[in-house]
Formats: sequence, C-alpha cells, structure tokens
Amino acid sequence: MAKQTWKGGNMLYPLPVVMVSMASAEGRANIITVAWAGTICTNPPMLSISVRPERFSYDILKSTGEFVVNLTTEDLAYATDYCGVRSGKDVDKFKEMNLHEEKASKVKAPLIKESPVNIECKVRKIEELGSHHMFLAEVVAVNVDESYLNEKNKFELSKSNPIVYSHGEYYGLGNLLGTFGYSVKKKK
Ligand SMILES: Cc1cc2nc3c(=O)[nH]c(=O)nc-3n(C[C@H](O)[C@H](O)[C@H](O)COP(=O)(O)O)c2cc1C
Repeated sequence: MAKQTWKGGNMLYPLPVVMVSMASAEGRANIITVAWAGTICTNPPMLSISVRPERFSYDILKSTGEFVVNLTTEDLAYATDYCGVRSGKDVDKFKEMNLHEEKASKVKAPLIKESPVNIECKVRKIEELGSHHMFLAEVVAVNVDESYLNEKNKFELSKSNPIVYSHGEYYGLGNLLGTFGYSVKKKK
C-alpha cells in the first residue's frame, strides 16, 4: 500500500475528549471541551490538559490552579461538542446544556453530575509549549458513578458508553477485543 508523507501535524488519534469544569474566584462555573489531554504519571497520579491562552477558561485555570476532568459518554456527546464551540464569556454552558454542578471533595471547581467519572485535579506546573499551554496536574480525587459498579464492586466504565474523538469526529467504543495481557495469557 502506497503511503503519502505529510508535514508534521497532530495525528495521534483516537483520543479521549473530556469536559473540563472549573469555577472562577467569584464562584462562576464554566466548562471547556478538551481533546489534548492525557495520563502522564501513575505515581503520583497525574494528567495533563493543553489549553490555548486565548480561551476564556485559561485565566480561570491559571489563577485557581484547579479543575475537574469529566469523562464523556454517548449521552453527553452533544454537550461535549457545544462546550467546545461556545464560550463561557457569552453563555452559561451548565444552564444551556442542562448539566448540573456537584460539589467536589478536594477542589473548589464543580463536578458535572451527568458525567460517570469526575477527576479532581490540582495544577502543579504549566508548560508554555506554543499555541497551547500544558497544565500538568495531580489527581487529588476521583468520583465514580456507583450505578456502574457490578456485584463484585468492579467499576464497569464501558457500561457508561464512553466516546472518543478521532480526526474531527466523535465515536462510541465498539466491540471489546481483549483485556490487559490477553495476548500472553495461557488458554484454559
Ligand atoms: C472536540 C473538541 C476538542 C477541543 N480540544 C481543545 C483543547 O484540547 N484545547 C483547547 O484549548 N481548546 C480545545 N477545544 C476548543 C475549546 O473547547 C473552545 O474554544 C471553547 O469554546 C472554549 O471555551 P471557553 O471560551 O469557555 O474557554 C476543543 C473543541 C472541541 C469541539
């Protein structure tokens, strides 16, 4: 198969697409959709989000040093897109999308009630990379929706129908292909 070689650009897909919630010092809540996000360390648990300085959310994230990463689902796909194309400087995204704030345990930023997993974060470092500044943050608490715990108390994230973002498009997850280490597991 012939390949074309393109100039360098972002092509690491699919990605998680998350709704990042925050609150200003005055207590005004906002949500920004972020696809440039990732896990960066296990211990201490850390993740990163990369945000353009011109975003309305940027100053809130920088000044408060706190945010919540809310995982997205098929039910939340529309709101995920909306929060990525409308600005908190013009609209109240919680109100417009009928999303509800819930109190976090360790940060002042609110959780999004409708999201199955809310990851509370405290910013440890900001890397000014270029178009985007990367917020490296420690995960200080994780909240999971109990309705996805099975009888053995295992959290079944797939039951919440998570979505991914791939080259401008949102997708559901599709079929389970294997579990961690299945390629080397001895057959029974
Ligand atoms: C799927 C998707 C992914 C996005 N990812 C990012 C991102 O990683 N970083 C960023 O700065 N903006 C990203 N955006 C754009 C912001 O979410 C968008 O500009 C938003 O309206 C900013 O909200 P604010 O003005 O309330 O801060 C993304 C938008 C969409 C739809």
